[in-house]
Amino acid sequence: MTHSFHTLKDISSNSLPRIAEIHMIDAGLLSKLGYPFVLRYFENAIKDERTFGFYAQDAGTGEIMGFSLASPEPSSLTVKLTEDKCWFVRNIIKVIITRPLVFLQMLISSITIRGQMYEPNTVECVYFTVDPKYRGKGLGRELQKSLMDEGRKRGYKKIYASVETWNIASLKATQANGFRIIRTFREGIYHRHRLESEL
Ligand SMILES: CC(C)(COP(=O)(O)OP(=O)(O)OC[C@H]1O[C@@H](n2cnc3c(N)ncnc32)[C@H](O)[C@@H]1OP(=O)(O)O)[C@@H](O)C(=O)NCCC(=O)NCCS
Repeated sequence: MTHSFHTLKDISSNSLPRIAEIHMIDAGLLSKLGYPFVLRYFENAIKDERTFGFYAQDAGTGEIMGFSLASPEPSSLTVKLTEDKCWFVRNIIKVIITRPLVFLQMLISSITIRGQMYEPNTVECVYFTVDPKYRGKGLGRELQKSLMDEGRKRGYKKIYASVETWNIASLKATQANGFRIIRTFREGIYHRHRLESEL
């Protein structure tokens, strides 16, 4: 599998929907909110100065295979979804009507995230996702590792990640990259391990 890595900030606006599509396969809350939220999230993320990430592209076909994203303050990206009030209200009403439990989970998660302390000089591995047809070949691990290398270059001393307890592939990749579990917690329907690694 030959591929190249690129910084997410350099992605063309035509290709950003592909990142959102890959993200939609993820079982997390953002994808459950729906595609408009996912696309808006990544549009905001690539404009955010402190957020960084990478995407992998197949050298033969040019297809985007997966991506990774890190931020020293992930809650600021979530809050940005509410900045355009008209857009947010219109879209969240659809969620409340069609998927009320997802809305409830959103409230629980935003309270949990607000309670999370961000230490100086630390960064969060927010997402790393690989299109299912490219999985199991080391790409996920490589994408997460690229966040660690970039975080170190930017002067961060520690990296955190939260991984659902059932997510064996993510746990294996994360632990193979040197993270260790520091606690396990519940966030509504989600049971997660909190992991950290020195950079
Ligand atoms: C997590 C994810 C990014 C891993 O991507 P990947 O390219 O398949 O990962 P790798 O090939 O680097 O594999 C990492 C490890 O997981 C193992 N693995 C991969 N898929 C697996 C599966 N379905 N079940 C169990 N183990 C699996 C690999 O064998 C490897 O372990 P090893 O180093 O002991 O051989 C991918 O499964 C994914 O996109 N999942 C959905 C999104 C997600 O959960 N992201 C992480 C949380 S934000």
